[in-house]
Amino acid sequence: MAETLEATELPLEGRGTTTPSPAGPIDAAELAGLAEPPMIQLPRAIQVLRFTMRQEQFVSRARRELGEVFRFNGVIAGRPVVVSHPDHVKSLFTAPPELVPSLTGESPLRPFVGENSVLTSQGERHMRQRKLLLPAFHGDAVARYSQMIERAAEREIARWPVGEPFQLAPRMQAITLDVIMSGIFGIEGRPKHDTPEWRLRQATKQVVTMSNWAIAQVGELMNLGHSEPVGIAKLAISILDRATYEVIADRRRADDAGDRHDILSMLLRSRADDGEALTDRELRDELVTLVLAGHETTANSLSWAWERLTRTPDAYDELYESVRGGREDAADQIEYVINEAMRSRPVVPIVGRRVQSAWRIGDFGVPAGTPVSASILLTHHREDLYPDPYAFKPRRWAGRKPGTYEWFPFGGGTRRCLGASLAMAEQRVVFDAMVKRLDIEADRPEPERARHRNVTMIPARGARVVVRARH
Ligand code: HEM
Repeated sequence: MAETLEATELPLEGRGTTTPSPAGPIDAAELAGLAEPPMIQLPRAIQVLRFTMRQEQFVSRARRELGEVFRFNGVIAGRPVVVSHPDHVKSLFTAPPELVPSLTGESPLRPFVGENSVLTSQGERHMRQRKLLLPAFHGDAVARYSQMIERAAEREIARWPVGEPFQLAPRMQAITLDVIMSGIFGIEGRPKHDTPEWRLRQATKQVVTMSNWAIAQVGELMNLGHSEPVGIAKLAISILDRATYEVIADRRRADDAGDRHDILSMLLRSRADDGEALTDRELRDELVTLVLAGHETTANSLSWAWERLTRTPDAYDELYESVRGGREDAADQIEYVINEAMRSRPVVPIVGRRVQSAWRIGDFGVPAGTPVSASILLTHHREDLYPDPYAFKPRRWAGRKPGTYEWFPFGGGTRRCLGASLAMAEQRVVFDAMVKRLDIEADRPEPERARHRNVTMIPARGARVVVRARH
């Protein structure tokens, strides 16, 4: 990453095509013949701090010094292995789910979203919830949201100041929060003032603002290893809880779930195999997950895309000429920019699984129970996959489809992001509206550094821009 992760930091061998590398479950005999991956030799506290605050530097340095597969001593128990070779990533994403439970249940998100949500639950319970929610986030369902997204974007863009610098990230959050709340609660437009949904919207905004405070990073560190929240996280959660339980109680009272088609009504109608309805606590975990996972990630992904685009004049001009000129390739050009932004600045930089069998990873082997994490950031910066990986080049996507194990900003396998289609649709629509309506510049030429917050990587100054003209 331009300022923090220098091009010279990742001298990868095998430029051209990736050399195949074996990976996957193995038996005890095979494990006995394999070495353990090399370990980062620093005190644990320093490793935790570096991973939490400057993950991009931490992993790229380890990659350079220790090679393609390495271990560190971090937040997650059991010294996670970091992988970035597409064959190693594929072994995690294609294994039967019971062999590769997700690490999200052990991540810093866990105190916020609880243990019952589709993001944090495992096994049968996870598959059941995923099946239940999938239709609501399927491509066809998302296509129906397009006009609603367009209206949310237009409403927001019309209010942006002209000629003075402002942060794009909170403005993008306003759009994506409206979109996800419409989907979940079936509200058209912004929730009406002083309704339970309006209070949940306010609470969510408040919690996201709090998570940007410097003290929140201390709070994040304090929560590591705790299954129940402490400190500032506890306060933030109580704000969210009050609002969420109020919405649930209100909907239960209204008792009109049968006539409604929004996601909350669907959850209220759903029954487990034993016929039991979801409890308030289960509903709360699901709603908080969908609201938080469903708006912040997309908003920051859009913010990064503009942070990059406004600092890459060639790419900016090409996109503008195509979209404003109504050229046939306009939709493709937008897609290239989004793909490239998600490649070079993946908002979620790493995803993990805890392997339940001994596992081969290239020349190395690890025993059952080892956490293995796929570094999206490292894979996306491999020179053998993406020549000149530190340059922002939307053109590299012309005639190229993102490879499942080479470009995975949404993770993969049975834990792949449920909202991927929605997130892509939102980015396309918002991009199109912004390019057509606004002339945008960065507030200053230097790139924004990455800041790590919970499991996300966001632009440190909130993607500050100046709108020069509105059309
Ligand atoms: C650009 C925006 C987004 C990015 C980069 C993103 C990224 C991710 C990633 C990396 C994962 C973990 C996947 C894995 O472990 O393999 C994930 C999971 C998830 N995301 Fe997203 N996400 C985005 C938008 C959304 C949206 C709009 C929603 C809507 C509700 C959403 C809901 C979820 C859920 C529910 C999961 C858990 C899936 C499971 O464990 O089965 N995300 N996302």
